[in-house]
Amino acid sequence: MARSSAIAASTTNGIHLICNHNLDALTGLEALMEGQVYCTITSPPYKDEDGFSMDLMERLATQLFRVHARDTLLFFNFGHMAGSKLRPFGCAELLALHGFRLVDTVIWIKGHFTPVQGQRSLNNLYEFVFIFAKGNPQLDRMAISIPYADPSNAHRYGKPARCPGNVWYLPHDTIQSRDQRLHPHAFPVALPTQCLKLAGLKPDSLVLDPFSGSGTTAVATLLMRNRLQFMGFERDPERYQMANLRIAALLEWLGSKTQEGAKR
Ligand SMILES: C[S@@+](CC[C@H](N)C(=O)[O-])C[C@H]1O[C@@H](n2cnc3c(N)ncnc32)[C@H](O)[C@@H]1O
Repeated sequence: MARSSAIAASTTNGIHLICNHNLDALTGLEALMEGQVYCTITSPPYKDEDGFSMDLMERLATQLFRVHARDTLLFFNFGHMAGSKLRPFGCAELLALHGFRLVDTVIWIKGHFTPVQGQRSLNNLYEFVFIFAKGNPQLDRMAISIPYADPSNAHRYGKPARCPGNVWYLPHDTIQSRDQRLHPHAFPVALPTQCLKLAGLKPDSLVLDPFSGSGTTAVATLLMRNRLQFMGFERDPERYQMANLRIAALLEWLGSKTQEGAKR
């Protein structure tokens, strides 16, 4: 039976509503209203053995376009497939065929490489993050800006920092041992954080991750402390459970920080 958890969290900046459902992504999406979602950040299953199919992607694209509000962004991360290098582009094309506009393709450099055996291809150092738009939203480029390599440029261009461009160096969260790894295909919190900053969302906007895995997008949404709401779907009960534990631990930590602040 499908399970869900809804956690309202009071932080210094207001209420966050985090809903994580132990549900198939399509079933969850079909229950959402048209135009309800203000940002999607997701990494779908990309291997056949993990549930990937072009049929799933096609139905996903239809539903995502329906549930997105106008002038909003969709961040679609696709893992590396040594044996199927065209698959990410096939999925991106499906999203475009269903109405999304490709804003940019980010090369996400993960800080480590996946060794590829043999003499016929190269070790992999990156994944794609396709940035799609429904409509014509603005990007909050300065929210993710980086300092100029030559500080005199700050004076020359009249601003302290520059847009980082479409190559993002975001290393994986560090772990001491394998059993600390939350999910074999988790992205680091820094990745959805970068996307949320770029999207420049207003308070109470709904952020969606239809393949929430270990809940990394939920964690990033909470850490933004901007009264955002989150909805996630994950069909694997163990991963769903893991995400809930992670969200609960973060809420407890945020709550204790808020209390500390109030005492001072
Ligand atoms: C690439 S992982 C996402 C990892 C996530 N970004 C994280 O940081 O933990 C894809 C997830 O989608 C889940 N999944 C696969 N097919 C699904 C479906 N039809 N509906 C919901 N979840 C699904 C898998 O169990 C897996 O946890």
